[in-house]
Amino acid sequence: MSVPPFAPAPFPLARPRRLRAQPWIRRLVAETTLSPADLVWPLIVHDGADDRVPVPSMPGVFRLSPSEAARAAVQARDLGIPMVALFPNVDGAIKDSIGSGATDPDGLIPDCIRAIKDAAPEIGVMTDVALDCYTDHGHDGVLEDGRILNDASLDRLSEQAFIHAHAGADVVAPSDMMDGRIQAVREALEANGFQDTLILSYAAKYASAFYGPYRDAVGSARALTGDKKTYQMDFANSDEALREVAMDIAEGADAVMVKPGLPYLDIVRRVSETFRVPTFAYQVSGEYAMVRAAMANGWLDEDRAILESLHAFKRAGAAGVLTYFAPQAARLLGA
Ligand code: PBG
Repeated sequence: MSVPPFAPAPFPLARPRRLRAQPWIRRLVAETTLSPADLVWPLIVHDGADDRVPVPSMPGVFRLSPSEAARAAVQARDLGIPMVALFPNVDGAIKDSIGSGATDPDGLIPDCIRAIKDAAPEIGVMTDVALDCYTDHGHDGVLEDGRILNDASLDRLSEQAFIHAHAGADVVAPSDMMDGRIQAVREALEANGFQDTLILSYAAKYASAFYGPYRDAVGSARALTGDKKTYQMDFANSDEALREVAMDIAEGADAVMVKPGLPYLDIVRRVSETFRVPTFAYQVSGEYAMVRAAMANGWLDEDRAILESLHAFKRAGAAGVLTYFAPQAARLLGA
């Protein structure tokens, strides 16, 4: 952000309202834009019998079967949304301490990737690299004697990323916050011929209460023992986010993410300005639920609140936003 080199003229020579007086001039001087191309649509997928199961804490969001995920991807493509992101609810699979299901080449996520690539090959597919949806303890890494083992987790995570890339994922997104995981994932991809697979690192991911509805949606809440504070960041910190991002870029991340979104726009601004790499932000489940709840009560104007909240990410310097509002927002933006 640059500061004007001189003070603006005083009133009445300067009347800032002149630049706001008509819609055409407001459009002409707008400093940022929001379009469907800025949106990533997170899809919760599941291995249950039903095609669509509503998520109670996220009105309007459904757990989707692989074929429904493919339909959603077609819809996203037709709305001009460049990418979908997949998150699994694997109720059917056995969960264990190392998250064995995460590396099953015929598991839910590989199935969904293939179904989407068949139906809408033009759209980008991003996957979440973390073990929480597959472990019996609900943590993102390997748990032993009450501790999350960093280096043992790296082996599991890099294998998971490889499985996703092999099934056709375009972007793997480690969300686990283990140290060194970007390097481990990048090496696994290089070693197996996936040098073109993008890594979007959840570089600055905070231990947040705003993930609550998501954990219901993917079914990791029931299992979770304790909290994630030994690996996810303390919300008191800001400089630490810059160190995390610097490490991940040095380890081979193509793009980075800040998460949650709206309460962390200060971090989005610092990261995008400091590193000048594509910086994404995630408007997470709890943020979605808050806005939806207010809308359901008639306390917020739905369409305006969605667009204003998403535009705020662009103003803060984000290259794009992961949001459960993506299809609705894309429609509002007149795709
Ligand atoms: C975990 C993961 C989480 C989300 C995406 N991946 C939650 C967590 O760390 O418990 C949250 C997404 C949301 O809240 O919308 N690997």
